[in-house]
Amino acid sequence: MSAAYPPGPTDRIWGMSIARKLRRDMLSYYDWLHREYGDMVCMRLGPYRYYVAYHPDQVKELLVTKAKSFHMSPTVRRVIAQWDGNGLITSEGDFWLRQRRLMQPAFSARRFSGYAQMMTDEVQRVADRWAQEIEINGVLEVDVDRAMTDLTLSIVSRTLFGADLELNTAEIGRAVAVLSETAVREMQAPVHTPDWLPTTAKRKKRWASRLLDETVRGFIRHRRASGEDRGDLLSMLLLAVDHEGGSGGMTDEQARDECMTLFLAGHDTSAAGLTWTFYNLAKHPAVAKRLQDEVDTVLGGRTPGYDDLPDLPYTEMVVKEAVRLYPPAIGVFLREALEEVVIGGYPLRKGDLIQVISYVIHRDPRWFPDPLRFDPERFSPHRAEEIPQFAYFPFGGGPRVCIGSHFAMMEMRLVAAMLLQRFDVRLADHQGEVQLLPQMSLRPRGGLRLTFSRRAEVPAAAMA
Ligand code: HEM
Repeated sequence: MSAAYPPGPTDRIWGMSIARKLRRDMLSYYDWLHREYGDMVCMRLGPYRYYVAYHPDQVKELLVTKAKSFHMSPTVRRVIAQWDGNGLITSEGDFWLRQRRLMQPAFSARRFSGYAQMMTDEVQRVADRWAQEIEINGVLEVDVDRAMTDLTLSIVSRTLFGADLELNTAEIGRAVAVLSETAVREMQAPVHTPDWLPTTAKRKKRWASRLLDETVRGFIRHRRASGEDRGDLLSMLLLAVDHEGGSGGMTDEQARDECMTLFLAGHDTSAAGLTWTFYNLAKHPAVAKRLQDEVDTVLGGRTPGYDDLPDLPYTEMVVKEAVRLYPPAIGVFLREALEEVVIGGYPLRKGDLIQVISYVIHRDPRWFPDPLRFDPERFSPHRAEEIPQFAYFPFGGGPRVCIGSHFAMMEMRLVAAMLLQRFDVRLADHQGEVQLLPQMSLRPRGGLRLTFSRRAEVPAAAMA
């Protein structure tokens, strides 16, 4: 064990210039820190000692073997709890474990065939609408970031909340974007300002919080009114309220918090994953063609189902590679050490902060040769074995690993397969260079314009 602190930038004014650099261009700064100082970097941020770890072994220590020595940083928890309350992301200890166990059945394999059916129904609706527009105009230009947010919002609402109400997905999407931007700003802000301030930013925040709260409470009200037990996540949560509420168990407010957590976490990141998948397919026609060939051979033009997924390995490789280069969550949430603990050979003290950034680790040439090249073959069965454990962790790891990882992987594969089954995709002519916007999910700044057109050759059944 090394006694000294790892190297890192120094800053005479309490890390203020470091904080400014992080605010200005977080991704480049994290990347630069790694190149400049190596696998373990330490700096001062205000009153905290702040570590960033870049080696897969350190990721494993933080998320798995020494996970008990950490919890989410209180600042991050405070920001997220404004919307999620005491939901799964922000809760800790026995309470977290109980809630996680309660919700786990909603993410078990036996539910996936039903979810796949609902997902493909939603994709079909979008694809039919696009096909009609293409019929009229020849091509269709889409802000794919917006379109994927609408789609994943409809999917999460139907699969987890059984919502058959017509949602204003465009408005909800805008509200989520406001919260996402607000959250990142607040996590980086040196001081916390009250929400009642009459500024434009605070007004937008109040509007977005109210809209999302009403949406989620609407799911609960609707289900209570119907009195149905559909056996889905929402029923599970509400039954837990009815059986346990009042006896120290789950309350109505707790059910609301869990619904909000899954509603937000369950669509924003998947939308980003899909946006980056289509971006890369648009830039790499040969990859898109190969994916279409796979889809045509396996499905022969019919709609995919859950059972088809193992037969679509190339589609999976494409999604995995898109999520490697553009991880929707650029890292895990900032952690705080609860006690003295050694990471990467360096001792962290109680109260120290530490972070791992998948965006940088996924682009490290030691684990991914020629890292900026989009190459789905990295995830072919024989080559995937060469990737060290925790060099690739888009869904985190250990006990706090993403509860929705299989759900999201299924969703992304089905959407990519179905849309490419019917359309060719390319970058819109006037789409300039894409800039990355790291908010709660990694997004393209100002959206991403892609052009979808009818496929030159398309199996008849897909158009039927
Ligand atoms: C591409 C899509 C997704 C990505 C990249 C992603 C990423 C992540 C990551 C990295 C974490 C771990 C955070 C940490 O350890 O600090 C996480 C946790 C979580 N994710 Fe996801 N996620 C995705 C989709 C989903 C979906 C579809 C759902 C729900 C339907 C979901 C619900 C959650 C929840 C509730 C947690 C907290 C789990 C816990 O602490 O027990 N995520 N996600």
